[in-house]
Amino acid sequence: MKFFVDTADLAEIEEAASWGVLAGVTTNPSLYAKIGGRVADFPAHIQRICKVTKGPVSAEAISTCRDDIIREGRQLAALAPNVVVKIPVSTAGLAACRVLADECISVNMTLIFSVPQAVMAARAGARFLSPFVGRFDDIGGDGIGELQAIIDALTNYDWRDAGIAEPVGGSLQQAPEIIAASIRTVQHVSAAALVGADIATVPFNVLRKCLEHPLTSKGMEAFVRDWEKVSQA
Ligand code: G3P
Repeated sequence: MKFFVDTADLAEIEEAASWGVLAGVTTNPSLYAKIGGRVADFPAHIQRICKVTKGPVSAEAISTCRDDIIREGRQLAALAPNVVVKIPVSTAGLAACRVLADECISVNMTLIFSVPQAVMAARAGARFLSPFVGRFDDIGGDGIGELQAIIDALTNYDWRDAGIAEPVGGSLQQAPEIIAASIRTVQHVSAAALVGADIATVPFNVLRKCLEHPLTSKGMEAFVRDWEKVSQA
């Protein structure tokens, strides 16, 4: 499983990148609002993120009509070679995805909560599919169970003829990559890896928590203490 960081905060992205495991970034309008972003600064902000990571950087189209999504998607894709256009799943979104994929623009279809949504997005040429785990749990659903069902369903089929845009700098794969999204806990990260998600996009605070374990801290303290004894011997 690859790790993306789910944030628009440049400092968080830079720190996660410094750890050596960052494979990409996902943003959305809510995450951009959270850092106090302004519409006029959005293109430059995405370009700054794209300089920190060479991996895919999802930037979301906010239009809801097919032609507007296409126009916005082309503008976003022109910002940097590693921009992926994020589009919420809908009839207009699918239609726009098909056009953009045919132009070799990578699409991340987002707000996916069911197997049919995922399979249709893949058929529309989406390069990445983002099933939301936490938000499904929020309404009493089984977010990881649905993620697993989506992974299982996609592996039933051959996607070579689906017209999926080849990722820039990547190799053409047979299936779209599944991004476990709306990840809230370390347990979600663990479960996403166990069901075989290609990618987990993880908020920065959860990404940091993934490295923490009381026995790791305890063990490190003991190593330092014991080395002091060795040094004084
Ligand atoms: O990647 C999608 C994510 O940003 C949504 O997370 O916690 O708002 O459901 P959340």
